[in-house]
Amino acid sequence: MGKLQFLVIIILVSSILISSISCALFKLKPTIELVLSIHAYSKAKILPYTLSSIENQDYPKNRTRVTIYLDLYPDVLEANFNRQDPRYERNWLTLKILKTWIRVNQPFYHDISVNYNYLDPLDEPLVDLDEYWNPNRFNKIIKLKTIAFSQARLDWADYLLLMDSDVALVNEETLSHLVDSEKSLIAPMLYSLGTYSNYWAGMNEKGYYLRTNDYMPILDRTKLGIFQVPMIHSCILIDMRISASHQLTFNATHLNNCPYDDIIAFALSAKSQNLSMYIDNQEIWGYLMPSVESMDLNRFDQELIDLQLEATIEGAFFPLSKELIHLVDTPIKDKLGVDQVYIINLERRPERKESMAKRMNILGIDATFWKAVDGKLINEEFLKEKGIKFLPNYEDPYHKRPMTYGEIGCFLSHYNVWLDMISNNYSMVVILEDDVRFERSFRPRFNLLLEAIKTYEKSFGPADLIYLGRKIQTDESESRTAINGLILPNYSYWTIGYVLTKLGAQRLIDSKPLEKLLPIDEYLPIMFDKHPNSDWSKYYPNRNLRALSASPLLISPTHYVGDEQYISDTEDSKQIIDAAFHPKNHHQEL
Ligand SMILES: *[C@@H]1O[C@H](CO)[C@@H](O)[C@H](O)[C@H]1NC(C)=O
Ligand SMILES: *[C@@H]1O[C@H](CO)[C@@H](O)[C@H](O)[C@H]1NC(C)=O
Ligand SMILES: *[C@@H]1O[C@H](CO)[C@@H](O)[C@H](O)[C@H]1NC(C)=O
Ligand SMILES: *[C@@H]1O[C@H](CO)[C@@H](O)[C@H](O)[C@H]1NC(C)=O
Ligand SMILES: *[C@@H]1O[C@H](CO)[C@@H](O)[C@H](O)[C@H]1NC(C)=O
Repeated sequence: MGKLQFLVIIILVSSILISSISCALFKLKPTIELVLSIHAYSKAKILPYTLSSIENQDYPKNRTRVTIYLDLYPDVLEANFNRQDPRYERNWLTLKILKTWIRVNQPFYHDISVNYNYLDPLDEPLVDLDEYWNPNRFNKIIKLKTIAFSQARLDWADYLLLMDSDVALVNEETLSHLVDSEKSLIAPMLYSLGTYSNYWAGMNEKGYYLRTNDYMPILDRTKLGIFQVPMIHSCILIDMRISASHQLTFNATHLNNCPYDDIIAFALSAKSQNLSMYIDNQEIWGYLMPSVESMDLNRFDQELIDLQLEATIEGAFFPLSKELIHLVDTPIKDKLGVDQVYIINLERRPERKESMAKRMNILGIDATFWKAVDGKLINEEFLKEKGIKFLPNYEDPYHKRPMTYGEIGCFLSHYNVWLDMISNNYSMVVILEDDVRFERSFRPRFNLLLEAIKTYEKSFGPADLIYLGRKIQTDESESRTAINGLILPNYSYWTIGYVLTKLGAQRLIDSKPLEKLLPIDEYLPIMFDKHPNSDWSKYYPNRNLRALSASPLLISPTHYVGDEQYISDTEDSKQIIDAAFHPKNHHQEL
């Protein structure tokens, strides 16, 4: 063999080696069979978000096969089906959403297929829940999951993702992250309403839910990580390459002493195979509709609104693909039945404005953003120019310090809204700050509150201010009014949200608070004469504000002072240390 031939062989061999090494480096992602099962009518409103969140995943679509199981009423395929029956109407909408999504996404996935399960709606009446969760229903779910499972096996899928159609993922990396975790059974922790989620931290010996102290730290994310738990459901990834996974079952009759329930059977069969289940809460992955408590469609709609609002608290928004926008009804916005809804917002807090704007869109409220007076721009000259003077002897009862510039800005912001309200001759307005969380069913409850105020006024005369949210500052019980939902507030803090009437605004202005300023939190209780400090109150002889409070409250702050994420513009801003501006220098600690 000549030198040249030898060299050629060396080059050939090494190029083969190099190419095989580079092949080994470039591995295709494992294949996923994503199975989504959709109820005939109850999921129609959240489905666009569920599908969009699947579409948004960064996992390669050409490594994903989507299989959809849909309950379909055959009549819905006819042009003139019964649109009076909301079940038909929503079944039709469900079908339309699916068709639209599939048409757009089909080319990108390895495959998308739909299995129709034809149903007679008479088999599925609008029933109460005990009837709903009957053995027939479980049979259906068990059968469906069993079929999905064997199909994934036949398809040689590396992973099976079983996803309920009431899940919205807000993190695009959820799937990639779950696959990378290399666990054989794992779920992304999903937030819901209240303390519901898609895992259990405890299970009793019969297989039922057991409350344990391990649950909350995972849910509130005070502990972050991947945790072994006895139960995961609603969105679970199963590694089909683990041979023991083939022994998993949803069918309780295959197990000893197992309740007839698909998720319990699955969890117990995993346990019997020594396969651990894991829940991952390292990121905010997504949201899950609360567990079904009735088949009331209005309730589902309200829960979807509440869930979307909940997501905005974490700065998360349900994804919605372009092609599906027209299939989601956006609420027609109104002013909540009052003349104006103000939202006080600092210009340098655009993220709060954006979050509040999203909440207004979700709630259908036509609000006006009101530019707050920025404490950072207030200085002595500004105070002099506006003729602002402080209340003699004022100091914060907790911090023992004078007013901060932030607190002054906050007062002036509300004050300016009162002026605006009067100059516009509004008879009743809602004033909100920009960091509020709306309690569940906010709109219907607000409507009831307006009714209650009207009823109250008929018997007891006009009300000037009605708190929507506040912090009760005394342990004393407060007096209920004769009207359900309204209470007479005692000493309270916060101005995150209240209803104000024209006369109320006039009274708050007429007392000339800028000439004896103290924080607005203190000013309001003084004005309705429930302030415990009579030294301060005496500077306001005309304490004639007629205040009420919603009870229970309708809003709360998104973050409380002391929370890690809380940035308060009033608490932390620079304190006024120029003693010259205070009638008395009593702030020794400064
Ligand atoms: C599969 O999709 C990925 C992007 O997700 C792309 O880079 C790759 O080229 C695709 N492969 C094929 C065979 O289409
Ligand atoms: C559960 O398993 C039993 C026994 O194999 C079978 O007869 C039954 O049909 C299964 N149920 C479902 C819903 O698949
Ligand atoms: C599970 O683990 C137990 C104890 O380690 C063992 O006795 C049992 O055989 C295992 N079961 C399976 C299916 O591997
Ligand atoms: C202000 O509104 C009231 C009704 O709320 C009306 O009677 C009055 O005329 C209005 N005043 C002005 C100046 O528009
Ligand atoms: C309000 O609270 C104070 C204590 O701060 C208490 O003395 C008073 O009785 C309470 N008043 C009413 C009407 O509840």
